[in-house]
Amino acid sequence: MSRTEVIRVDPQQPNPDDIARAAGCLRDGGLVAFPTETVYGLGVQAFDRDAVQRLFLAKGRPANDPLIVHIASFDQLSSLVAEVPDVARTLAARFWPGPLTLVMRRNAAVPQEITAGLDTVAIRVPSHPIARALLEAVGLPIAAPSANLFSRPSPTRAAHVLDDLNGRIEMILDGGPTEVGVESTVVDITADPPVMLRPGATSAEALRSVIPRLRFRARPAVSTDVNEPMASPGLLSKHYAPRAPLTLYCGNPARLGRALIEGARRALSLDLRVGILATAEDTTELRALPVVIAELGSSLDARQVAARLYAALRELDDQRVDVILARDVASQDGLGRAISDRLQRAATETVRMA
Ligand code: TXA
Ligand code: MG
Repeated sequence: MSRTEVIRVDPQQPNPDDIARAAGCLRDGGLVAFPTETVYGLGVQAFDRDAVQRLFLAKGRPANDPLIVHIASFDQLSSLVAEVPDVARTLAARFWPGPLTLVMRRNAAVPQEITAGLDTVAIRVPSHPIARALLEAVGLPIAAPSANLFSRPSPTRAAHVLDDLNGRIEMILDGGPTEVGVESTVVDITADPPVMLRPGATSAEALRSVIPRLRFRARPAVSTDVNEPMASPGLLSKHYAPRAPLTLYCGNPARLGRALIEGARRALSLDLRVGILATAEDTTELRALPVVIAELGSSLDARQVAARLYAALRELDDQRVDVILARDVASQDGLGRAISDRLQRAATETVRMA
């Protein structure tokens, strides 16, 4: 394939003709990127094994990392799972459509390729109008990982998808920047009590209002055996990562500003091109240094930081920086937990300030 078609679509009122073309492309086994409320997804018709295999190739994704299946509504769940657990009903009633992915026992109709051989399948109902319109037009579930090349930051704009996948996929529905900016929260409800496998756009606090016993997964050791299906998402060390090595400063907020300045000065003295994921808290002293700045907004405003995070990492890569310095977000509450998780995964080194 040589050309990837990009179609501009109104994110509020998608043109039905454009949606119908994308749906036809998916039914014919094509790969179509589309916006969700979190990040752009790269979709294939979920029961089309060949298309699923092409998707893994297009992304360069290891076959042992299972995909999320997107459905139009709760009713489609029964076409994918062995049984619909009560807790799924409760969670769906509160959080679907929306950025919550539930891991459940799969049925035999779900292709092995999607689940990486696991007997579970991850499912969500997205809320973005384009995603919803597409799902309804296709009339079948759509398997869709984030629409980035494997190990690159997830795409929050159509341009990011094009940068990574131009010529590798049939179509991109460009609905502008995505709203949330970090991926859905993944919760394994086959476990009792349920376990949060990946923090994301649905907060732990909101989930606990419905399932108070929700547990967090302990940060696991990195799995390096590519023959083992990964028990859960994003276990690879380099994930959501920019090309340049990233040093993450965390711990005592009062000392982070100074530490960043000193880190930047050290890197500059080695003649490195330095990129900073800058927050409003970073002083003019830091900004006066000959560094490349990508703005995240206030580290106290998690919504803004989440919306900007992946675009900022890509901007620094585009600027060909040699190293990136960043500070952790101020709070682990709400979206802060997801942002912090992604920063840690993107980091090659963490410096903890006492
Ligand atoms: O917000 C999102 O979730 C976006 C949009 C496009 O929906 N999708 C997304 O997909 O982030 P992806 O493939 O980049 O991440 C899905 C994660 C993977 O890390 C995968 O390991 C995990 O979900 N996952 C999928 N199936 C699973 C399963 N059966 N058990 C445990 N984890 C699973
Ligand atoms: Mg991904």
